[in-house]
Amino acid sequence: MENLELSAPESESLENSGDPLSAPESESLENSANPLSGINANELSKRAQKRLLKKQKWLQYKPIKRAKEKEKLKKKREEARLKCIKLGPSRKELKHHKMALSSCKIRVALDFSFDHLMKEKDLHKCINQFNHCYSINRKCENPLQFYVTNFNGKAKELMSKHNGYRNWDVNIHEESYLGLFNKDELIYLTSDSDNVVTTLEESKVYIIGALVDHNSQKGLTLKIAKEQNIGHARLPIDEFIEMKTRRVLTIDHVFGIIVNVACCGMCWRESFLKVIPQRKGIVPKNDTDIEPTNEPKIHSTDSSTEPNILH
Ligand SMILES: C[S@@+](CC[C@H](N)C(=O)[O-])C[C@H]1O[C@@H](n2cnc3c(N)ncnc32)[C@H](O)[C@@H]1O
Repeated sequence: MENLELSAPESESLENSGDPLSAPESESLENSANPLSGINANELSKRAQKRLLKKQKWLQYKPIKRAKEKEKLKKKREEARLKCIKLGPSRKELKHHKMALSSCKIRVALDFSFDHLMKEKDLHKCINQFNHCYSINRKCENPLQFYVTNFNGKAKELMSKHNGYRNWDVNIHEESYLGLFNKDELIYLTSDSDNVVTTLEESKVYIIGALVDHNSQKGLTLKIAKEQNIGHARLPIDEFIEMKTRRVLTIDHVFGIIVNVACCGMCWRESFLKVIPQRKGIVPKNDTDIEPTNEPKIHSTDSSTEPNILH
């Protein structure tokens, strides 16, 4: 039985990195239990061995990276303090940014029912995007009413590594949004819908698919919304900006856009320009085409359709 000898080269390269932070970390690494020890290398394919090496390298580097990030943030805060620049709400201020106290009653729910369709790497990305959504909402003076639904699979397992997430100011539910809300309140946000969200309404719950799929599951959320017989709509991207790439946005971008419009008094166009990365080739549509108000002026062409959604 042969155990993988993985640690020597990694800790060596870390020690030689000349980083003042690396010394204590590498010490603690030597002392820390190797989570990958005891694995029989003979039983593993070359590919699996490579993957293990990579994983251990990451496990060793992770605390160093975190310490570097912490140090960088500390420096940035200090610089901002000296220049009297406000970086964002303080911890004390954040304590008052509670959903229950918020004047914003718009409801957004992440749908975590897609764990089985994601590779581990994409599931991690998905969790990171959820964390980012939480951070966006928390920093908002008047956060929106944030729900997480169908949170019962691998995503929940991964999140349990984040100590304290259960104390977050988010309504986390194992059950589906179908059991939590009335069907007529639900609008599944999906880039594949022909309907367009115009004004965000308190009487609706806007669902975002917690899915990182690199376009491999095209049309999936629209199909689900149709099968479940619930409303669906896309964001009004084409109505306000030109975009060179696909209109499929990431979970946190969709969430950030909605927070800006629902809670920060931005109009759609302003929010799109703020949130969607420049690499997507975005330009605002001609100003004269758009009414410069907070409420996008898009009206349903059919009076029998639901208000605030263009069909
Ligand atoms: C990366 S996308 C997943 C795309 C996936 N193929 C699908 O069928 O929805 C993540 C989620 O963001 C939301 N989303 C992304 N772009 C959107 C858009 N242009 N309009 C409305 N919702 C959008 C949808 O809820 C979507 O499920």
